[in-house]
Amino acid sequence: MNTIELTVNRRAVNASVEPRTSLADFLRDQRDLTGTHLGCEHGVCGACTLLLDGVPARSCITYAVSCDGADVTTIEGLDDDEIATELRAAFTREHALQCGYCTPGMLVSARDLVKRLSDADEQAIRVGMSGNLCRCTGYVGIVNAIKSVISARRARDIAGEPDAGRKLLGPVGSGHKAWTSANPTAAMAAPVEAASAIVPLEIPDFTPSTVLEQSFDVAHPPAKVFALFDDIAAVASCLPGASLTGTPTPARVEGAIRVKIGPISANFNGAARVESDPVTLSGRILGVGRDQRSRSTTQGEIRYRVLPLDNGAATRVELSIGYSLTGMLAQVGRSGLVRDLAARLIAEFAGNLDRRLSGGAGASAAPAAELNGISLVFGLLRERAVAFARRLSGKGGGPA
Ligand code: FES
Ligand code: FES
Repeated sequence: MNTIELTVNRRAVNASVEPRTSLADFLRDQRDLTGTHLGCEHGVCGACTLLLDGVPARSCITYAVSCDGADVTTIEGLDDDEIATELRAAFTREHALQCGYCTPGMLVSARDLVKRLSDADEQAIRVGMSGNLCRCTGYVGIVNAIKSVISARRARDIAGEPDAGRKLLGPVGSGHKAWTSANPTAAMAAPVEAASAIVPLEIPDFTPSTVLEQSFDVAHPPAKVFALFDDIAAVASCLPGASLTGTPTPARVEGAIRVKIGPISANFNGAARVESDPVTLSGRILGVGRDQRSRSTTQGEIRYRVLPLDNGAATRVELSIGYSLTGMLAQVGRSGLVRDLAARLIAEFAGNLDRRLSGGAGASAAPAAELNGISLVFGLLRERAVAFARRLSGKGGGPA
């Protein structure tokens, strides 16, 4: 058993928990706070959502021991909360619930949106609530209720706070407890800043579990494209979410890549080994990274080959991207989604590469602060919808 001290609904709590006890089970079984509901217990449905240090978190996939020192607010703790009170009234008015099982998690997530959004943008509300599933009511009433509260508050000159005090989202602990070998589960709570110190010394060869083949063309000569691939800082600047954390040497580079998909946020810190062969205009980048908060590890290998097109005026870049992912994110991620995201990532990379080689507007623009899975997914869905519409209208188009 582990002893934890935390604040639950503004009251100091001292308790003993087993390392495997989830925060949801701790609250329901030991604190009788049964307003926190359990649906999937896999971090998918959002029924168990509560506030951890003021930020919505899935309590079913958060260990209680990782919340030592945390400030936990459950739906019971929002009884007197102004926004939650307005939301409860709006949910009733708009018929936003039937059985009510999803409602505590819905209210917690909705309250966060009411705080953050600048206006009642329906799409932003739907995206923001996409981590909360309702099995019986449908979402029209829920969205309308949230819209009405945001509109009413903005009309009263209560402005949104874009980050509402959050630092990171995700199925994580509070960040208060340092990792010790006697308390390994608290590693999930280690501050993400500490992760920058975790850089692997070795970058071993490995056999990827998933390999994707992609190619793209750019209107620049092969030698120019190959030279850019040899400049790892330039490559990183073209990769959404990537940044260097150390000065690159010819053989090794240290860096980080930040990924955000819905409520899940990961910051992989690691290192890469770079090899290139100027004779065959090919090379490979082997990397290994770790997201400290989710305790997920990834290994990746990018093999590239540069081929002349149009008598050397243009270039085809052939990429073979292999990776393996272990840890919590491997359980959350769907292989199809990861493949689609990788395809979109490469498309963005190719566009940035082309702009950089062209030296035109935006060539030196900073890369996206993070690889935003949501925007990539929406882009992907848009493409699929267009292809589907084309097929329906008999105008052709390849498979989606
Ligand atoms: S119970 Fe479904 S996300 Fe936690
Ligand atoms: S109201 Fe029944 S699950 Fe949402």
